[in-house]
Amino acid sequence: MSLRLRLNLLVAGLNLGFLVALTWLMVDSHRNSIQEEIEAAHRVTVQMLGTAAQTSRVFGSAPAVMVDYLQSLGRVRANEIRLYSDDGVLRYESPPSGYKAGRRAPDWFESLMRQRLEATVIGLPGARIEIVPDASRAVLDAWDNVTAVFLLGLGFVAVLHVALLLFLRRLLRPTEADALRLVTTTRQLAENREVTRLIQAGVEEERKRLSRELHDELGQSVTAIRLIAASISRSGESAGAMQGSAKINEIAAGLYDSVHRIVRELRPAVLEQPDLAAALADLGREWRARHPQIDFVLKLDGDLGDLGEAATLAAFRCVQEALTNVLKHAGAGRVEVCVRRHDDSLEAVIDDDGQGPAIGGAVSGHGLVGMRERVEALGGSLEATARAGGGFRVSMVLPLPGDSS
Ligand SMILES: Nc1ncnc2c1ncn2[C@@H]1O[C@H](COP(=O)(O)OP(=O)(O)OP(=O)(O)O)[C@@H](O)[C@H]1O
Ligand SMILES: [Mg+2]
Repeated sequence: MSLRLRLNLLVAGLNLGFLVALTWLMVDSHRNSIQEEIEAAHRVTVQMLGTAAQTSRVFGSAPAVMVDYLQSLGRVRANEIRLYSDDGVLRYESPPSGYKAGRRAPDWFESLMRQRLEATVIGLPGARIEIVPDASRAVLDAWDNVTAVFLLGLGFVAVLHVALLLFLRRLLRPTEADALRLVTTTRQLAENREVTRLIQAGVEEERKRLSRELHDELGQSVTAIRLIAASISRSGESAGAMQGSAKINEIAAGLYDSVHRIVRELRPAVLEQPDLAAALADLGREWRARHPQIDFVLKLDGDLGDLGEAATLAAFRCVQEALTNVLKHAGAGRVEVCVRRHDDSLEAVIDDDGQGPAIGGAVSGHGLVGMRERVEALGGSLEATARAGGGFRVSMVLPLPGDSS
């Protein structure tokens, strides 16, 4: 989650929390004041009508007199008054309130503000008066107040939110100097990569030239020596000369093989046709033949045939150097090379079960540094670490151009 989104959520959460707390405080204070207000109004009404009922009892007035009195009284604040004769007939009902007539607070708000107020019944000769506290107008007032404050608060926190975010954005925005530095560093990095890539290309070119020279000059000279040695042995000279020529032939054959091996190392098949799978299979065959005491495992996954020359060569050279390091430093009994092609990257891991890196030993070689530079020049990364279970691991990831199909 980006920093800006996190700050947005934090500010929004704080603002909403503040709004909810404010609303709840208002609801609570309204609930208490409504309770007090309605109780007081009910008490006064009951006292007033109680006195009237007392008088009516003393003078033995008929219910009709009380109805007249109630009609003249009209609506008493926050109370509904009804008069029933003893036979249960409703003789009088107070008129509805004209205040905010026709409106009510929503049911859920009314139940939130619900008051615990009991109706009072006053007995009369031949009738009874029911006085029912009615908090609906007070609750409606509270609703109007709370919604007004809520909407005002909402507007306020929205403005606050926007202002805070604009301020944060300005605070977090890199200055022009930062941007310039960033651009310069990025450019330098790109230039460094390009320089490394050119150096690597130059090195490969030089290796090709060397391998050509070795093959053409030394290879042909050795072949000529062998031919001369063969003609001496065919000429039927003395036994000593025959023996000498056979020895020359044997040494020259050994030299020829060595020259060919060096030529192959300098200019592996991968340079001729960038097929990493084939090149690694070749390398594996040669490794097994030359180092049978080390168990060599090669695991290839995915199509490694069309990675492009740069990625193929970089991966091949890394595996080659890592294997040389295994021979030089690891003392391993097993080495595993795992190369996997993902959708947009190539991953190579070389594991051995040797002694691992020397603790505290100064790193003086150039192999790992060169591998890393080579990989980073192509936008990839390389790590060389001790393995959890002992041994050494070199892992490399190279980005590949996306699949355009
Ligand atoms: N497979 C491995 N097992 C144990 N240690 C290793 C292994 N590979 C590399 N190292 C350690 O990392 C160091 C750096 O390796 P690097 O290839 O950079 O240099 P080098 O092999 O010593 O010299 P150079 O490659 O220049 O001939 C080595 O000196 C060695 O200590
Ligand atoms: Mg090395």
